[in-house]
Amino acid sequence: MDYQRKTIGILTSGGDCPGLNAAIRGVAKPAVELYGMKVIGFANGYRGLMEGHSIELSSSDLSGILTEGGTILGTSREPFKQLVKNQDKIDQMIKNYKKFSLDCLVVLGGNGTHKTANLLKQHGLNIIGLPKTIDNDLYGTDFTFGFHSAVDIATEVIDRIHSTAQSHSRAMIIELMGHKAGWLSLYAGIAGGADIILIPELPYSIDNVINKLNQRHAMGKKFSIIVVAEGAISKAEAKMSKKQFKASRSDMTYSSIGYKIAKQIEEKTNFETRVTVPGYQQRGGTPSAYDRVLATKFGTYALSLILKSDYGLAVGITDNVVSARPLEEIAGKLKVVPKDHMLIKSGFALGTCFGQD
Ligand code: F6P
Repeated sequence: MDYQRKTIGILTSGGDCPGLNAAIRGVAKPAVELYGMKVIGFANGYRGLMEGHSIELSSSDLSGILTEGGTILGTSREPFKQLVKNQDKIDQMIKNYKKFSLDCLVVLGGNGTHKTANLLKQHGLNIIGLPKTIDNDLYGTDFTFGFHSAVDIATEVIDRIHSTAQSHSRAMIIELMGHKAGWLSLYAGIAGGADIILIPELPYSIDNVINKLNQRHAMGKKFSIIVVAEGAISKAEAKMSKKQFKASRSDMTYSSIGYKIAKQIEEKTNFETRVTVPGYQQRGGTPSAYDRVLATKFGTYALSLILKSDYGLAVGITDNVVSARPLEEIAGKLKVVPKDHMLIKSGFALGTCFGQD
């Protein structure tokens, strides 16, 4: 097929992260400049495709965006559950896909985005998915772009907390993002030398946390660094049904799990405890060099698929090799930290407490 005539649609969906613009650039820059293709960006995720809110990306639009945080296209969350119930929205996306005479649509996103991508594939659209999220919880790829940038940001926070913890002999809790997975807390916790790391995959016992703090104090270590994933749960909560868990958390008088654990520490010990929640800083700013490279690998690989008219695929990296697998193989599958992950083993070998017996 004459590349001049291929028209690529592209959109960014779900939570933003560093690396989105690098990935857009990886697809669109060579497509426009080397193959004379047309690249149409849709604004604010799938919503832009529904509304036909688009911009044709020119070479100048793609200049200087490699290092830019966020997404030049904007993003939104279109909950998959709402989409499935609303055929009109799906029909609107299909209608605009055809109206813009797209040969394919490249979507940059996480779990929800890939579930919708697979749904559109089932409706006959040519789709390619690129794995994006700071959570790194997308099945089918070792890493998502955005993850390592968030690890770097979170690690810097932990490093800075170390000095104030030491100065005040405090127990310092750093609550990190990650949704239902503990990847970000595990990597940043190990990188930041945390004494205690609590992740959803290893439900914790608060008594084990307290024991670790007391052990440290007994060894003359008057401060402790505790990294808590926002999705961390106690052993008791792990035994609850979804309904019971929801009820127990709605009754929780604390804004998030980090504050609950801080309160428990102060109630059970005399250690001054403070909480830091870096929040959206973990999603902001320029991508790390690693993520710039990863996003560029993914973007250029997506274009190689488009050149072969190879669609319906999710791009990913496994053992440092970029490849693609059918969207239906990964759509909706969460990738959580395996209990025997090498970093958990390293942590245990180091004496890091994961809240386990
Ligand atoms: O998925 C990325 C993420 O930052 C999660 O880590 C976090 O729980 C969630 O998004 C926050 O969602 P929102 O951006 O809609 O507040």
